[in-house]
Amino acid sequence: MEDTDLTHEELIHDLNNVFETITEAADLLSADRRWKSLAATLSRSVGRGKRLLGEIPDSSSTLSGVVEGAIQSVTDYCIAARKPRVRFVRQLPADARLPGSSKDWERVFINLFLNAAQVMKKPGRIDIGAQQMDGGLSITISDNGPGIPTDILPRLFRPNVSTKTSRSRSGLGLHIVASIVEKYSGNVVAANRGQGKGAVFTIGLPPQER
Ligand SMILES: Nc1ncnc2c1ncn2[C@@H]1O[C@H](COP(=O)(O)OP(=O)(O)OP(=O)(O)O)[C@@H](O)[C@H]1O
Ligand SMILES: [Mg+2]
Repeated sequence: MEDTDLTHEELIHDLNNVFETITEAADLLSADRRWKSLAATLSRSVGRGKRLLGEIPDSSSTLSGVVEGAIQSVTDYCIAARKPRVRFVRQLPADARLPGSSKDWERVFINLFLNAAQVMKKPGRIDIGAQQMDGGLSITISDNGPGIPTDILPRLFRPNVSTKTSRSRSGLGLHIVASIVEKYSGNVVAANRGQGKGAVFTIGLPPQER
């Protein structure tokens, strides 16, 4: 770590104190019927933060399990941020597994789902499909939003490419997606489904070693 005297362990310790406070506040909130569902959102976000910190052991990475977790997180976001509702339609083989850490894959799916949810101006739909081929896996995530602006399409996975104007540090989501997919020797491509018909992302993963 640069520019700080804190060790990684000390930082994790202190972040856990932050999570502790949020958990206590969520417990208090959950006692009131009106705040129960917001309290559950806070608790799930804390759970995700802890998983990211590596404090909770990695659960085994089934594709459908990881996708469910990501759907839950993004649904929580849409409700909390008062975004139009997104319907998720999954068609996933029950036995499909992902290589490596489920934490990594949760980041991939959350970043992809969040992007689609953030550009939707009205209630929409995200389809998640997967096919196993020759031991490898092909995963598609498509939405019925406005589609990706064509001028940024060729450099979409580079850092700092964004149409967001609200935050100074944006344009990282898809760079993170590509970095994780490449870490597992896979590839990810983006395309539009046709003028104004939404975007589609395809992730290809090679056969896994056993
Ligand atoms: N599903 C999608 N439909 C339409 N446009 C998209 C979609 N996904 C990404 N984009 C476009 O690609 C840009 C880059 O996405 P990326 O996730 O890398 O950064 P960001 O969402 O702008 O910022 P950050 O993810 O860092 O908060 C977005 O600003 C948006 O214009
Ligand atoms: Mg993003």
